[in-house]
Amino acid sequence: MFKVREIVKDNTNLIRNKSKDVQLPLSKEDEELCEYLIEHIRISQDDERNQEFNLRPGVGIAAPQVGEFKRIFAMLIKEEGKPDIEHVFVNPKIVSESVVEAYLAGGEGCLSVENDHEGYIYRKFFVTIEAYDYLTKSMIRKKFRGYPAIVVQHEIDHFSGTLYYDHINKKNPLKIKEDAIQI
Ligand code: CO
Repeated sequence: MFKVREIVKDNTNLIRNKSKDVQLPLSKEDEELCEYLIEHIRISQDDERNQEFNLRPGVGIAAPQVGEFKRIFAMLIKEEGKPDIEHVFVNPKIVSESVVEAYLAGGEGCLSVENDHEGYIYRKFFVTIEAYDYLTKSMIRKKFRGYPAIVVQHEIDHFSGTLYYDHINKKNPLKIKEDAIQI
């Protein structure tokens, strides 16, 4: 039975806390946290169930967003004609990244942020991460490109207490970087 946990919002400094690596093999408690995070995202993308639980649709959620300051995040990206990208990453580290940057034309959103913050967020166009993947129960090294790479960087930012709008240019939020790829 799914029991909704309260999302830590940006109206409290808790969301700015730093998260720590998790010990492997996972404790029962940390496994339950992994299960919760992916289930939250799966339900949030299901049109009927998200209403039942009053969940805002999201593609990713990090443990600090439910008040657990651990380096774990879940992501689920469904794009037409492509296989689903579904992971629960434990202790993810970015081991390589592109020089080329990318940004979402529509800006980013976050389950912890209720107000809109207009502006572009420039991130790396691709990143390779190493992590333990709870869903496959294995250490993996994986390259993400484009939108999924942006999601990965957004979620990893939560471990340092960084929110997407921290990256927006304050003086000129819609400033275009000519070399960056628009997504
Ligand atoms: Co977020």
